[in-house]
Amino acid sequence: MSGTSLDGVDIAIVDYGQPIPEPVYCNTKPYPAQIQQRLRDVIRAEKVAIDELSKLDVEVARFYAEVVNAALSSNSISPQSVAAIGCHGQTICHNPDIDPIYTLQIGDPNTLSTRTGITTVADFRRRDMALGGQGAPLAPAFHQTRFHSNRHNRVIINIGGIANITYLPANQHEAVTGFDTGPGNTLLDYWINRQQGLKQDSNGDWAAAGQVITALLDTMLTNEPYFQRSTPKSTGTEYFSPAWLKAFSPENFTAIDVQATLLELTARTIALGIKQLPDVATECYVCGGGVHNGYLMQRLYQLLGDCQVSSTAELAVDPDFVEAQAFAWLARETLNHRPGNLPSVTHASAPAVLGGVFQIPPGTSE
Ligand SMILES: Nc1ncnc2c1ncn2[C@@H]1O[C@H](COP(=O)(O)OP(=O)(O)O)[C@@H](O)[C@H]1O
Ligand SMILES: [Mg+2]
Repeated sequence: MSGTSLDGVDIAIVDYGQPIPEPVYCNTKPYPAQIQQRLRDVIRAEKVAIDELSKLDVEVARFYAEVVNAALSSNSISPQSVAAIGCHGQTICHNPDIDPIYTLQIGDPNTLSTRTGITTVADFRRRDMALGGQGAPLAPAFHQTRFHSNRHNRVIINIGGIANITYLPANQHEAVTGFDTGPGNTLLDYWINRQQGLKQDSNGDWAAAGQVITALLDTMLTNEPYFQRSTPKSTGTEYFSPAWLKAFSPENFTAIDVQATLLELTARTIALGIKQLPDVATECYVCGGGVHNGYLMQRLYQLLGDCQVSSTAELAVDPDFVEAQAFAWLARETLNHRPGNLPSVTHASAPAVLGGVFQIPPGTSE
């Protein structure tokens, strides 16, 4: 899994031979700096050179292959014993709101499967979109299998570059729903990087030391239609981008206060999304890198009031590797010819087996 934060690739090796599928190994490998910068440039550019995009498609896959091969050898696991790689790819653009709707994840699965000698399942989103769905979020089906409770209505909050929520009603007859709430870490990362050259606001300490600019926050909340829009909805970092922020003239304010306001925006829009769910949840579990932002977590505790907020670690799943495990699970569903999307989430016209399967013909791996 490599999400919109562009921090790197998360790998989870999951053993499905157990009654509760257990990850035997999880790790995150940062993108090499030059690949990360080129991805950022391509994602932010209005026009992209087709040869640069095509090169990145292969280079990203080569990097994934290195990461997989290193993980397998450090755990003495042979490629032959791995049923499949589920590879989300790196999202370059995602726009389910204009006709034709489109999404693009790069990281060529032919290269990945050839260089690892492992069947690769990739391109998970476009079948759902071909069926009129949002193609996102796709983690809810996995959240349902792993985190559903018969006693409590639960919400899973994933705070990556973009934040998304999944509602898991205790009553199995009620539909699972979920959507992207808006920016997660993306604007926080961008602003601290621009102002201080840091890659993230560790623990939210910089934001916590600033003052929320109420007028700016209110303008963002009111002027941006996405936050109040009805579901289904999904978004990306090419929408909640530096250009999105620039439209609010952040340079007219003190930089530290802008950071405080952006953190508050993430917390408020997640809380708003939870209020928009069909029923009240009593438990929220957070995953994704945002769980390490102590101040953001504190704001969520405060804003969500009666709903108990904790990390998915409380449910025995490492919050940094929920998404990676979701794509391992989705690959498994695909190989077993089972659908991976939830039409109640994406509004696709039907459940569908997701992705393409890139097999290794015998003797062709490098
Ligand atoms: N200690 C921390 N303090 C604050 N933010 C953090 C911390 N650790 C990770 N993050 C945030 O989490 C992001 C990575 O989260 P991740 O779930 O990998 O997102 P994505 O799925 O978009 O790649 C980082 O870019 C950073 O903003
Ligand atoms: Mg990440």
